[in-house]
Parts: sequence; structure tokens; C-alpha cells
Amino acid sequence: MFSNACISVTRILIMAIAVFVSGTGTNLQAMIDDVDIDIEMVITNRNAKFVSALRRCENAGISWISYLNNMENLEKYTTETFEEKNVELIVLAGFMKLLSPAYVKRWEGKIINIHPSLLPSFKGAHAIEQAFEYGVKYTGVTVHYVDEGMDTGSIIAQQTVKVAKRDTVETLEKKIHKVEHKLYPKVIKDLLK
Ligand code: GRF
Repeated sequence: MFSNACISVTRILIMAIAVFVSGTGTNLQAMIDDVDIDIEMVITNRNAKFVSALRRCENAGISWISYLNNMENLEKYTTETFEEKNVELIVLAGFMKLLSPAYVKRWEGKIINIHPSLLPSFKGAHAIEQAFEYGVKYTGVTVHYVDEGMDTGSIIAQQTVKVAKRDTVETLEKKIHKVEHKLYPKVIKDLLK
């Protein structure tokens, strides 16, 4: 007998993010591997051949665009594209350029970054080495909103990492990255809820 039963389909709405990278892209990979995160596109400021993160995009079928240090064009293009595609969150993952004050203002509350220290300690590009050399017993990972400064925006989440006596910079770096790869996708999903 033919039944005209109505089947209720639960629609899962996955909101899109854009990811800005400049290098290896292990954090990007953690996002790619998370089935609940939808990456609309990946943007880099560097020559594509030096950005291994982009190989991860190619393997995953994610489109990317390179802006060769032209931040003005990068910001103009991404603003237009993100508005059109309803990108909800701009995720910096090892992106080594400061965004302009106007861009940060336009996307206020929608740009986040991950930093390998317990901010406000050890801002900047060599946080893991600096914390190690300082002899801290605990360091960690911070996810924060992006403002006009470098690693100065308000903190969203932090997780500590204990520095063991036998740690070297390399082993500490591995421990920090392991924490980053769990924390960042979790924060992203929490923010998109
Ligand atoms: C991470 O340690 C992140 O905290 C910092 O840059 C590094 C990027 O690593 N902002 P990867 O490119 O994600 O491997």
C-alpha cells in the first residue's frame, strides 16, 4: 500500500568559516578533519609555493587564494566575498600579518586567532622559545578575538601546558600544538553555535 507519510528531515545548518594562513597549516588540518566545521575558503598573504597549508586545501578540495603580501587587495577581496557568502567567522591560523584597523573594525567580534602562550605573556612570533628560555613552569595556548594590536584582543579560551624538566623547545612545541589542535576546533564550534 502506498503511504503518503510525511518524513521529517532535520536540517543541520553548518555555518562557514574562512581561514587565514601563512605556513604549515597544522591547525587548518585540525579544522579540515572536524566534520562539523565548514571551511568556505583559505586565504594566504604569501607566495603559494611556500605555504604548505595550501597543499592541505588541495587534498581536501577547499579553494584558496594567495595575495602576495598585498594586504589592501586581500582585505578588499575578502570583505566582498565574505559578505556575499555569509562567512560567519574569520579564523587566523598561523597568519603572520597584522590586519588593518579598518578591517578589524568591519569584522569586529568575528576574527579570532590562536597563540602559543598564555597571553598576555609572550606575545609575538617566538612565544614558545621565549617562554621556554624564560624558564616558565607552565605555558599554554590562547584563543582570542583580534583587535588592532598584536596578540592583544580579548581572550576567549586558554589551556595550560606544563613544562617538564626534560622538555626541550621541540618537545614543548609538540605538546602545545597538540593542545591547539583540540582547542581551536572546539572554540570555533562553540562560537558558531
Ligand atoms: C601555531 O602555533 C599558532 O599558535 C601560531 O602559529 C602557529 C601556526 O601553526 N599562531 P600551523 O601553521 O597551524 O601549523
